[in-house]
Amino acid sequence: MIKKCLFPVAGYGTRFLPATKSMPKEMLPIVNKPLVQYGVEEAIDAGLREIAFVTGRGKRSIADHFDISYELEHQISGTGKEKYLSSIRSVLDKGTFSLTRQREMKGLGHAILTGEVLIGNEPFGVILSDDLCMNEGGEGVMAQMVRLFKQFRCSIVAVQEVPMDQIEKYGVIAGESLKDGLYRVDNMVEKPKAADAPSNLAIIGRYILTPDIFDILRDTPPGKNGEVQITDALLTQARNGCVMAYKFAGRRFDCGSVDGFVEATNYVYENIYTPE
Ligand code: UTP
Repeated sequence: MIKKCLFPVAGYGTRFLPATKSMPKEMLPIVNKPLVQYGVEEAIDAGLREIAFVTGRGKRSIADHFDISYELEHQISGTGKEKYLSSIRSVLDKGTFSLTRQREMKGLGHAILTGEVLIGNEPFGVILSDDLCMNEGGEGVMAQMVRLFKQFRCSIVAVQEVPMDQIEKYGVIAGESLKDGLYRVDNMVEKPKAADAPSNLAIIGRYILTPDIFDILRDTPPGKNGEVQITDALLTQARNGCVMAYKFAGRRFDCGSVDGFVEATNYVYENIYTPE
């Protein structure tokens, strides 16, 4: 029912400079696989096989990663090294990939609105690939959310409890608890001070959005930091209709920060990576 997944990948990744000066943050590897490939695999596992990237200048290598490299294929064809390409070949076989460019970085909300041309009038997933989500041995986070969407048919944000001294890095929700880990959102604040935060439930980089979000985004003025905030648009959607927040099963690593990136690297190396 949901076929498309949007990947906003246009940000500058300033926290990783100088590594991200000429290389996209999303191509930084966690062990031997770029961050964005983990996100795309999660989308495809959830049945979202039409992958749409909102890219920007300097992000060409993302488009190249999701295409055949003829020279490489030719060089290693029939050798023992072919196995190293198996994960990306499998992604290429299962998915389709399209992209559009965000010319000015006006925030995540603006990036999502830029993706409208690739999504059209249907519900879609959004994955921020710098949030790496793992649910080892269980269902991926996007697959869990797709299952909920089938039940509720409204926008869903993934949330996680975070310590109050970190809350001002996130969009934060408040809502009525419907059942364990599921809330009907009635308030949302982007990057609040701890004293103003409506809860400790922080929105992380997984969303399912209904397409009316595009009209709402068009009318959403720039908010915190002068950027068009998806949180502001979602609050309008929650007040006019329904938005759910879901405390997902699994772990999430904030790979947009150096600490989270190193933690993810150690976790994947110790628990997931298998030398070929
Ligand atoms: P972040 O603020 O975490 O990413 O945006 P950033 O701007 O790349 O990182 P820093 O803070 O400079 O280190 C969250 C996500 O939204 C995308 C980013 O690519 C990232 O995946 N984004 C953000 C856009 O695509 N366009 C924007 O205008 C802003």
